[in-house]
Amino acid sequence: MVKTDEKLSDKELSLNFDLAGYLKQRKNLVEAALDRSLPIAKPEKIYEAMRYSLLAGGKRLRPILCLATCELVGGTIEMAMPTACALEMIHTMSLIHDDLPAMDDDDYRRGQLTNHKVYGENIAILAGDGLLSYAFECAAETENVPSDRIVRVVALLGRAVGACGLVGGQVIDLESEGKTDITVETLNFIHTHKTGALLEASVLSGAILAGAKDEQIEQLTEYAKNIGLAFQIVDDILDITATKEELGKTAGKDLQAQKATFPSIWGLEESQAQARKLVESAIEQLNSFGEKALPLQALAKFIIDRKN
Ligand code: FPP
Ligand code: MG
Repeated sequence: MVKTDEKLSDKELSLNFDLAGYLKQRKNLVEAALDRSLPIAKPEKIYEAMRYSLLAGGKRLRPILCLATCELVGGTIEMAMPTACALEMIHTMSLIHDDLPAMDDDDYRRGQLTNHKVYGENIAILAGDGLLSYAFECAAETENVPSDRIVRVVALLGRAVGACGLVGGQVIDLESEGKTDITVETLNFIHTHKTGALLEASVLSGAILAGAKDEQIEQLTEYAKNIGLAFQIVDDILDITATKEELGKTAGKDLQAQKATFPSIWGLEESQAQARKLVESAIEQLNSFGEKALPLQALAKFIIDRKN
C-alpha cells in the first residue's frame, strides 16, 4: 500500500519490534475481554445482536492504543482493559448506526452482513444504543484506579461520542454528500470529529488511567491527532484501491455516494504523501519516551501499511 521511505522503514521499527506478534497477542486479550464482558442474558435477541457486531473481529486498534498508552505511562493492562472494551463498544455501535438505511445504507461490515440486515432496523438501532450505554458502565466500573482518573476518562469518552465528536462529524459528513465544492477544511472537520475524536480518546484514556503528567498528555495528543488524520486518509485511499474481500465491507462506496475524500481533492499520490508525513510526525512526537514508545510508533506505521 502506501510506501514508506527509508527513515520510517523496517530498519528503524519492524526489525526492533515484532508488531505482528504484538498485535496478535493484544488482539487476543481484547477479544477475550469483550467476549467475557457481554454474556447473553434476557432478552436474548438484543444481547445476540450486540454480540454479533461486537465480536465480528476487526483490527481492535482503539483498545490496543488504549492499552499501549496505559503501559507507556507506567500502568497495567488490567487498569485499561474496561476502557479498552468501552472504546470498542462505542466504535462498534457507531458502525452499526453508520450502516443503517438512514445513514450509509450498507450491507456488509467486518466480512459479514450488517446488523440491520440480520436483526432488522429496529433491533440494530437498539443494539447500538445498548452498546453505547454499556460502554460507559464498563469504563465507570474500572477497578484499582483512583476514581478521579476514571471520571476524567468517562467525560473524555462522552465528549468523543457527542456533538463535538463522532455525532458532529457524521452530521457534516451526511450534509456534504453529493456536494462538489467541499474544501479541505470541511473534510478535516469531518474526519477529526468522525474518526479522530475516538482515536484521540483511545490514546489519551489509557494515559489518564495510568496517571500521565500534563506534558505527556500533550505529546500523546499530538501523536493521536496525527495518526487520526493519517488513518482517515488511508481509509479514503483503501476505498479506491482495495477489494471488498480485503476490506470486509463494500469497496468504492465514496465515489458511488459522491463523497468528498482526500484522494478526490489531492489525488492518490499526494494523499499517500500526506499520510506518510503525518505518521512521521506522530513517530517523532514520541521519541522522548525512548524504547518504551516502540509499540505506539510501530502502530503509527501500521496505519499506513494496513490493507483494511
Ligand atoms: C464510518 O465512516 C463511521 C464512523 C467512523 C462513525 C459514524 C458516526 C455515527 C453514525 C454516529 C453514531 C452515534 C453515536 C451516538 C456515536 P465511513 O462511512 O466513512 O466509513 P465506512 O466505509 O467504514 O462506513
Ligand atoms: Mg459508512
